[in-house]
Amino acid sequence: MEQPARMEQPVQTETWKARSLEELVRILHRIFAEDKVSVEEVQALMESYESNPEEWLQYAKFDQYRYTRNLVDNGNGKFNLMILCWGEGHGSSIHDHTDSHCFMKILQGNLKETLFEWPEKKGNGEMTKKSERVLRENQCAYINDSIGLHRVENISHTESAVSLHLYSPPFDSCNTFDQRTGHKHKVKMTFYSQFGERTLCATAVPQENN
Ligand code: SIN
Repeated sequence: MEQPARMEQPVQTETWKARSLEELVRILHRIFAEDKVSVEEVQALMESYESNPEEWLQYAKFDQYRYTRNLVDNGNGKFNLMILCWGEGHGSSIHDHTDSHCFMKILQGNLKETLFEWPEKKGNGEMTKKSERVLRENQCAYINDSIGLHRVENISHTESAVSLHLYSPPFDSCNTFDQRTGHKHKVKMTFYSQFGERTLCATAVPQENN
């Protein structure tokens, strides 16, 4: 599967409008079946979908203690589409994206994204914050490793949040970083549910990305 550089090649893009989650998945399959895929096209398509809870509630499974990752579609091996459910105050670690493209669309609530620079080799000091922003319903953000590292948080103490993430190529591990020291740690990423069904095997226990 293509690395970020290949995906960013300028290609002819179409203006899509996804009128439902089902249609969004259908169009994503069409786009990713091509040799080259445009970041802008995928981002605009994901933003064009107007969040309708009736369409995604079956995938939105919350945990009391940490955010959950719920697989919606495995994109024919080209991408993973998943719904992340963030309870009040839940957040991720600072992490990278294993050389993949990451699209993150807000389906409900708000999420704060804090961007960090990669730490110096070995990592032995406080990490440098580049920027922060609050993403609101229907917005779609994009990041890859050349942009930096990020932490995603639901900073609300009264409202949960739900987001739709697309990763291409799919990955099942990433590095997390200690903000104070920059030390990195490889973690396995797991799914809390797949296709609407709770994952019950032992490997489904989420590790340290949150
Ligand atoms: C993200 O990278 O946007 C969220 C972290 C995750 O996929 O668990």
